[in-house]
Order: sequence, then structure tokens, then C-alpha cells
Amino acid sequence: MAPIMVKSNLMHDDKNINLMHDDKNSIEPYQKGDLIYQNHYVQSLIGSGIFGTVYAVKNSIGLFSAVKVINKKTRVNNDLMQQIMRVRSNQLITIENIGETYKGEYYIQMNMGEGCLSDIVLESIYTEEWVYEWFSDILNALIVFEDNGVEHLNIKLSNIFVMDDTVKIGDYGNIACFSLPEGKRMIDRTSIHYRAPESFSEKFGHSVDRWASAVVLYYLLTGEYPFDGETIEQIKDSIFNKQPNLKLIPKFASFFERCFAKDRDNRFRCAREMSNAFEDLTILKKDKQQPIYGQPKKRKKRKRCIPCR
Ligand SMILES: Nc1ncnc2c1ncn2[C@@H]1O[C@H](COP(=O)(O)OP(=O)(O)OP(=O)(O)O)[C@@H](O)[C@H]1O
Ligand SMILES: [Mg+2]
Repeated sequence: MAPIMVKSNLMHDDKNINLMHDDKNSIEPYQKGDLIYQNHYVQSLIGSGIFGTVYAVKNSIGLFSAVKVINKKTRVNNDLMQQIMRVRSNQLITIENIGETYKGEYYIQMNMGEGCLSDIVLESIYTEEWVYEWFSDILNALIVFEDNGVEHLNIKLSNIFVMDDTVKIGDYGNIACFSLPEGKRMIDRTSIHYRAPESFSEKFGHSVDRWASAVVLYYLLTGEYPFDGETIEQIKDSIFNKQPNLKLIPKFASFFERCFAKDRDNRFRCAREMSNAFEDLTILKKDKQQPIYGQPKKRKKRKRCIPCR
């Protein structure tokens, strides 16, 4: 089996390279050494997205964090943010603190991820077995979200991080912006490749996250997006009317058919159900597979999840 190679030109959508130039902070970005709030100094800019700009920040005792400074124009639901902060899981990037910068912007201070999956898939060679580990972690994070009523709404490779040998979902604080009445349609600014059909309508929720996670899995396994095209309209048409190419991954065909059913009723009903199906599939496959590069991580003995209904 050949190692998985990705097509780097497809990744531009992931990091919002073309997004947001009309909605950036009206004030100057922070420079290295700037004191951003009490005892925290900017080290470097990591990147910008829909809601703000992320900086590497060092505190006075030398500890690093990633700090997202929310765009001035974007309101944040602070009560919800407080609630989200209390959700702790090994599969989520921890939110360490929230508050206001000296310039009056809302900030979210998070654990620093070692790298996001979009960087990792572009820069390293990985095996299918690693993908199984990564995706199990992602599904466990989805279970935590569903148990806590948190909808991420922007799951994609650049919002998933590797830390301490574990894959963690980050940027779930964005929901505090999405949750405001004017924020829900922010979903229209998220990366089109990951969007479920229902995300184009008014009513959507956790199913959008399960769909986007399946896009992540498909991408990790094939190096391509399941629904693609030359233009936004073509990609949208593919999401609504076309089937992904499952010939690339015949062993996962039935799993993806359920993940990408156009009608939500024909999909997995919750992350637990999806996780159990995925685990059955990869345990079955495990004996047949030989890793190609490096030492695969030891497969953790995972507790089976209880079906949702
Ligand atoms: N906790 C973190 N640790 C390390 N890097 C992070 C962390 N949070 C975000 N980043 C990185 O910072 C960059 C900017 O993140 P940001 O969330 O603003 O944009 P994005 O992820 O590209 O798009 P979106 O706004 O749709 O999430 C991305 O490369 C992201 O991977
Ligand atoms: Mg992000």
C-alpha cells in the first residue's frame, strides 16, 4: 500500500487565505513584543480566519499560548463562552482564559497546538493506521460536543491539532460568535468543501459537524475533497447532487455512503453511532494492514460507546 499523498493546491480553501480582508480589525495588528493583556506578550502572528487573528503569546514566566483576538466588529456571546470554557476533554484544545485586550478586543487564550492537521498532511508522510487513530480522536471530540450541546460548525483540517500524540479539535470558541442572531449565517463564510447540504438552509446543528468530520477523513485517506469543483457553485452543486468517488476507498464505501447521505435521516444519527461504525470497520481492517512508514502509534484500547438510541 502506498503512503497517502495529498494535493497541496487543494488546501488553499482550508486556511481562509482569501477571506476576511473586509472584516479585519480596524486597528493595527500586534507586533512581536507587544503587551497584549496583563503579563502576556506577542511572539508571532500565526494566522487569521473568519472571526479574528491568532497570535503565539508568551507570559511572564515563559509559557506559550495561542491567543485568538476576535475582530472588533464581531460580537461574542460571553455567557456561552464561559460555558464552553468549562467543557474539558483530552480531545479538545483547552481554553485557558478569555478576556479583553488592552485595546478592548475580545480574546480567547488556548493551549498551543503543535501543528494543525492541514500542515501535517502537507508536510509529512502518514499511514492509514495513523488516520484511524486521528479520526477516532476526532469522533471522541464530537461525542463530547454532542454531550455538552456544543456545535462547532467549522470543523476542518486547520481547526484540528496534534498535541501530546493526540488529535484535538480547537477553535470551538467560535460558536460563541456563531450563536448570536447575526452570527449564524457566518457559516456562509466557512470553507465550502466541508459544508453539509443543510448548512445552506436555516436549520442545522450537530449533523453539520459529523458531515465535516467525514470530509476530513475522506481527505486524509485520499488527498482529495469528496465534493469538489472549479467554482463555489460547482462545489455546491456537487454537495447537493453528486456522490463522492468511493472507488478510491472501497473498504470505507458503506461508511461514507451513510456519512454523506443527502437526506439527514439516512445518516448516522449521532457521533456515538458514527464512532461505533468506524471502530468496527477499522478493527476488522486492522489485521490486514501493514504500516509503511515509521512506527505506528500503539492503538489505545478504547471503550466502546453506547449507541445513542
Ligand atoms: N490553539 C492553537 N494552536 C496553534 N495554532 C492555532 C491554534 N488555534 C488556531 N491556530 C492556527 O492559527 C491560524 C489562524 O486560525 P484561525 O482560526 O483564525 O483561522 P482558520 O483556522 O484558518 O480559519 P477559521 O476562522 O475558519 O477557523 C490557523 O493556521 C490555525 O491552525
Ligand atoms: Mg480556526
